[in-house]
Amino acid sequence: MIDIFKEIADSCRLEVPAAQKLPIAIIGAGGIVDGAHLPAYKKAGLEVVGITDVDLAKASDVAARHGIPKVYKDVDELLADSTAKVIDIAVPSSAQPEIFLKVAAAKRHILAQKPMAPTVAEGIAMADAVDKNGIIAGVNQQLRFEEGVAAAHKMVELGWIGEVTNFAMTVNLSTPWEMWPWAQNMPRLEIMLHSIHYHDLIRWFLGEPETVFCAAGRTVGQYPIGETRTISTAVYRKGVTSVVHANHVNRGGDNLAEYRIDGDKGSIRGTLGLLYDYPNGRVDTLEVNSLVVPTDGWTPYPVTTRWFPDAFIGTMGAVMSAIATGSPVRSSVRDNVNTLKLVDALYRSMDSGVSVKL
Ligand SMILES: NC(=O)c1ccc[n+]([C@@H]2O[C@H](COP(=O)([O-])OP(=O)(O)OC[C@H]3O[C@@H](n4cnc5c(N)ncnc54)[C@H](O)[C@@H]3O)[C@@H](O)[C@H]2O)c1
Repeated sequence: MIDIFKEIADSCRLEVPAAQKLPIAIIGAGGIVDGAHLPAYKKAGLEVVGITDVDLAKASDVAARHGIPKVYKDVDELLADSTAKVIDIAVPSSAQPEIFLKVAAAKRHILAQKPMAPTVAEGIAMADAVDKNGIIAGVNQQLRFEEGVAAAHKMVELGWIGEVTNFAMTVNLSTPWEMWPWAQNMPRLEIMLHSIHYHDLIRWFLGEPETVFCAAGRTVGQYPIGETRTISTAVYRKGVTSVVHANHVNRGGDNLAEYRIDGDKGSIRGTLGLLYDYPNGRVDTLEVNSLVVPTDGWTPYPVTTRWFPDAFIGTMGAVMSAIATGSPVRSSVRDNVNTLKLVDALYRSMDSGVSVKL
């Protein structure tokens, strides 16, 4: 059994080949850059040549702690320096489209943060700018590169669980929303900032849903004004289904983050260790029970890396690989427009109380 895991492991290795490595410059010196982008790039041996932020003291602090040689005073100064070949944008989505369009117009390759944009229209304008300027651009939906999830995708591709019939994601968390003061007054919160990872992931497995429904709620005493609890269902062609159930005000102290993929010839189940103790986390797990390959019941797959920071090597590596070889970007800006459309449809369902056709 371990032998047949080799093909899976080879397909989800998080490395950037030496010949594909390119210098990076970063816009935004916030928590996610400090805690995940930069540790991932260090692990992968990627060079960060400079950074900027509207808060220059923050940019200087991050630069000093991570050994980044240059702090640019603004985006214009960053773009005037041609050393960096990939521009890594990691600012709140309200600020991202304007910066993205400027970087794209300068014909520089981009890795953008999620959510890519607050609205579908802005997302389409960004994807159009990518095409017009002939650049490569990805979105940091790096859950698609988390080793367990990527291994599960490969198992599905190889037919180990037959035709997928349902994808279920359940998270019940005590999320420290105070970490993101800019999110406190966002009326669209949970799906836009968190469950967007799961909706994007399920799109990667199942394609585009035909109909979606979402019920949402808030909990007395919560920090942000937006929804912190969502239950989203989707129906795909041939009656395939999915459900995402997320609660971020868990007062029971028993964080939980599980997913399960059922097929007509087996099942896969896994956990996202990060969410049991965000942002420190614990190991991710994956198990498979197949009628196609000899798993002999539930067999654990050895996940050796973590969602944070390791999967961030994947999203940056995919942009660099596309620049070097023309390979498709697993989480491209154009593909992400459909994730934004799905998120928007879920909010329309939440607001109207009825299911929405895509
Ligand atoms: N991919 C993931 O898993 C993941 C995880 C956490 C956050 N994020 C996303 O990353 C982005 C940043 O999140 P964070 O946790 O680092 O937030 P943060 O508040 O810690 O940092 C945001 C940074 O952006 C800077 N900034 C804001 N507007 C700017 C502008 N116009 N130009 C330059 N800098 C600007 C701020 O000064 C701040 O330093 C958000 O969009 C968030 O949704 C993604």
